[in-house]
Amino acid sequence: MNVITGRGLTRRYAQPGLDPVVAVADVDLTVEAGTVVAIEGPSGSGKTTLLGLLAGLEVPDAGTLEVMGLELSRLSRTERARLRQGRIGIVFQSFGLLASLTAGENVALPLALAAVSPRDREFRARLGLEEVGLGAAYGARIDELSGGERQRVGVARALINEPALILADEPTGSLDEENAGDVLVLLTDAVRRRGASLVLVTHDPASAARADRHYLMRDGRLTLGVPA
Ligand SMILES: Nc1ncnc2c1ncn2[C@@H]1O[C@H](COP(=O)(O)OP(=O)(O)OP(=O)(O)O)[C@@H](O)[C@H]1O
Ligand SMILES: [Mg+2]
Repeated sequence: MNVITGRGLTRRYAQPGLDPVVAVADVDLTVEAGTVVAIEGPSGSGKTTLLGLLAGLEVPDAGTLEVMGLELSRLSRTERARLRQGRIGIVFQSFGLLASLTAGENVALPLALAAVSPRDREFRARLGLEEVGLGAAYGARIDELSGGERQRVGVARALINEPALILADEPTGSLDEENAGDVLVLLTDAVRRRGASLVLVTHDPASAARADRHYLMRDGRLTLGVPA
């Protein structure tokens, strides 16, 4: 079974007075359930745009895209947001945490949107933080945490809804080598424990080596590649 089946995906951005940028160009991508897929490519090659399509944040100009059995073009913006909230976890390079909330509150945020009771939210957020080795950080302010710790909070938040699909956009790109390695192992292990699927955008050869399948992106085009 595939969690993602994309065919001929294309996304263009208009530029005043110039030809449009083809950020994603005729991309075919399938992701089987329970697999880790790495996408590597230079800056500007379209990786974030492609993840945005997979997340239903962006709409393709051409092509078809099925995510967990749902053809995204048939869903409204609200339905896509609901799919994202309920079944997709996202990890960002810049962590995407809210500085005004504690680590625990950040992790619990998707549950608040899903109207889970405060008591259950706290219970699950504590478990989530324990899973990423931050059991003591529930009440910590984000600015008290190191980069590696912040991204572990980001991972815990992405997993809190038990999503079937996790999308990670250079999740270790802001970290030093040691922290990057730790976060990568933590993320891939957590995904594999759950039998979930991960699409991991990365510049890091070690990330690509932990994947079941490895793609290269160049100028919007995606090809199967061999890890460096
Ligand atoms: N909202 C937008 N409006 C106009 N052009 C955009 C927009 N988003 C991306 N682009 C262009 O699309 C191309 C692909 O951008 P994208 O951010 O997907 O690349 P990337 O591979 O994620 O790069 P990086 O490694 O730097 O994050 C670039 O030429 C970029 O300038
Ligand atoms: Mg990007």
